[in-house]
Amino acid sequence: MRGRFVTFEGIEGSGKSTQISLLQSYLAGKGIPVVLTREPGGTPIGDQIRRILLDPANKALDPLAELLLYGASRAQHLREVIRPALASGTVVLCDRFSDATLAYQGFGRGLATGGIEELDRIVTAGLRPDLTVLIDIDARTGLGRARGRNADQGLHAESRFEDEDIAFHTRVRDGYLLLAEKDRDRYRIVNGDRTPEKIQADIRNLVDRLLAD
Ligand code: TMP
Repeated sequence: MRGRFVTFEGIEGSGKSTQISLLQSYLAGKGIPVVLTREPGGTPIGDQIRRILLDPANKALDPLAELLLYGASRAQHLREVIRPALASGTVVLCDRFSDATLAYQGFGRGLATGGIEELDRIVTAGLRPDLTVLIDIDARTGLGRARGRNADQGLHAESRFEDEDIAFHTRVRDGYLLLAEKDRDRYRIVNGDRTPEKIQADIRNLVDRLLAD
């Protein structure tokens, strides 16, 4: 039996992480085998790559080098975590995947999306999520939340991306909406500007329906 591959996307401060862990508890409570993982990261090598990618000190990181590092983390993650879990019938909940590269490196940084897709086909060998949940929120609200969270924790910025301006995050958000528009079979958009309970109810509905298929 092949498991199901569900990915979660959205800009900073969209509430993804909270929602995914609530969903994990819900599925585990129903006795469904489930694994929660994320990109960049998800493996010991991927976590080392994540540190390079998110370190605010790495301002000199070239956009192409950045793209390849996300790809490197993804290749490792697919081999060590995603493919084995799917092969054993597990539901894989992944906090970001290939669409994040198109949204951030493509629409955000301005790298050619055709080239990103080509590289992604090599990295993933064409593996697509069964469902991608886009938690949509406007850039100002999302970034405000993310920065508020950092300030609460006494941090300046968790990642190089939280240092980017509203225009960058607006391009990323608009990019995600365009991707969702182009692939309506796979994507579902959930309004992230509501209470966590309401957002979670929508997500559970979507995943219940996917698992019932
Ligand atoms: P996170 O904060 O959701 O864990 O994501 C880490 C950051 O990495 C976030 O700012 C989005 C960014 N990112 C990309 O730019 N490209 C990618 O392919 C992925 C997976 C994440």
